Amino acid sequence: MTARTSLTVVLAAGEGTRMRSRLPKVLHQIAGRAMLAHVLAAAPRGASDKVAVVVGPDHQAVSDEARRVSLDATTFVQRERLGTAHAVLAARDAIAKGADDLLIVFGDTPLIDASTFERLRAPLRDGAALVVLGFHAKDPTGYGRLLVEGDRLLGIREHGDASEAERKITLCNAGVMAMDGKTALQILDRIGNGNSKNEYYLTDAVAIVGELGRRAVVIETGEDEVRGINTKSQLAEAEQVMQAKLRTAALEAGVTMTAPETVFLAADTTFGRDVTIEPFVVFGPGVSIADGAVIHAFSNIVGANIGKNASVGPYARLRPGTVLGDNTRIGNFVEVKAATIDAGAKANHLTYIGDAHVGEGANIGAGTITCNYDGVDKHRTEIGAGAFVGTNSSLVAPVKIGAGAYIGSGSVITRDVPDDALAVERSAQTVKQGWAKRFREMKLRGRKAKD
Ligand code: UD1
Ligand code: MG
Repeated sequence: MTARTSLTVVLAAGEGTRMRSRLPKVLHQIAGRAMLAHVLAAAPRGASDKVAVVVGPDHQAVSDEARRVSLDATTFVQRERLGTAHAVLAARDAIAKGADDLLIVFGDTPLIDASTFERLRAPLRDGAALVVLGFHAKDPTGYGRLLVEGDRLLGIREHGDASEAERKITLCNAGVMAMDGKTALQILDRIGNGNSKNEYYLTDAVAIVGELGRRAVVIETGEDEVRGINTKSQLAEAEQVMQAKLRTAALEAGVTMTAPETVFLAADTTFGRDVTIEPFVVFGPGVSIADGAVIHAFSNIVGANIGKNASVGPYARLRPGTVLGDNTRIGNFVEVKAATIDAGAKANHLTYIGDAHVGEGANIGAGTITCNYDGVDKHRTEIGAGAFVGTNSSLVAPVKIGAGAYIGSGSVITRDVPDDALAVERSAQTVKQGWAKRFREMKLRGRKAKD
């Protein structure tokens, strides 16, 4: 049997006015990833699966994000917001290609799980024309109520159109649906806008399926998974749900965390075996941590590959483009950006390494700064294997420190240093014998004279 083909249509045309932000709603992030990207990651993505995203006018950034996540995603613009069914029909050209399963999901329900899409598709195989994802809402106000009889779904009543009795129903429409792709357009084209909002309601598809003599069913899920995000408070709540999920997954994968509730993960953070993360560590996107690495407390890590048995922090900041080799040590108040630190190299205290390469086993003394920016351009610093950079040195890029070279403490290095050489750049030390003693005595004499 060949795999059933699918098309997932993501409705992402919402302005998100209540987010009070210039950013389109679906681009707001949860666990370091746009809501839209979470939804796209959950949608079926095999060779026989396609994705269409319906965006609002002037939402180029939403289309860009869709294509960044799913290279082959097609985007469609809904010019006027005339309702959810109208939004789906913006993707008419994609739907007309007739995938076996048409999946519809809102771009602002980022906690949706991939397995749910599979559960929704199953009844289509048995001849159902429409499968709706339902959940029991603690407070159903505002949601469409599911009108069911036995295992059949007869209709969905939007809150504004529901009777007193119907409003008592707590089984609600999550907004995620699966439709028989072959009859989808026939169903969608029959939806009218004769309701209290004069909108084309996708939910009317249920009654139409009944009129066509076909079957509509409900699949249930928990409320957490289908939280819709309309406000910053809801965004923060969803973040908590997502963090709890990510922490549990990390613990189950064998990561040691003594206070997981204080660790903030990104959706794409990956861990090897026997990784330890101390309390109060924050991860942004793009971080991988190899076997045996330890991330000490209060570190902030974004876009970094951390090698085996590396030690990071406490209070380290790793910025995008950081690659730490095996057994490296990045200590307290060290910042690394766009730099590769080879195996066994150390920067244990108070250092900035940016746009640089640090060779194997090099030792970067406390207070070393790579001066990578001249106010206009960025420049690179190369530090050879086994080099020793004395404390409080400034390496003014572009500059190369040779393998095994030695930089005297407090130097400002502006020219390349050959392999195994010593470079010192500071004025000669002056020593005046007995000066301090004479100075003290003079001061004390002065004080006595005043008394
Ligand atoms: C919708 C459902 C309701 C369900 C609820 C779940 C309908 C008619 N109602 O109601 O049954 O309980 O979601 O959260 O479907 N959108 C567009 N273009 C439009 C209108 C909407 O792209 O013209 C998008 C919105 O950006 C949003 C989604 O569709 O992502 C849902 O629209 P919204 O207005 O939030 O519908 P609800 O009233 O919440
Ligand atoms: Mg809504």
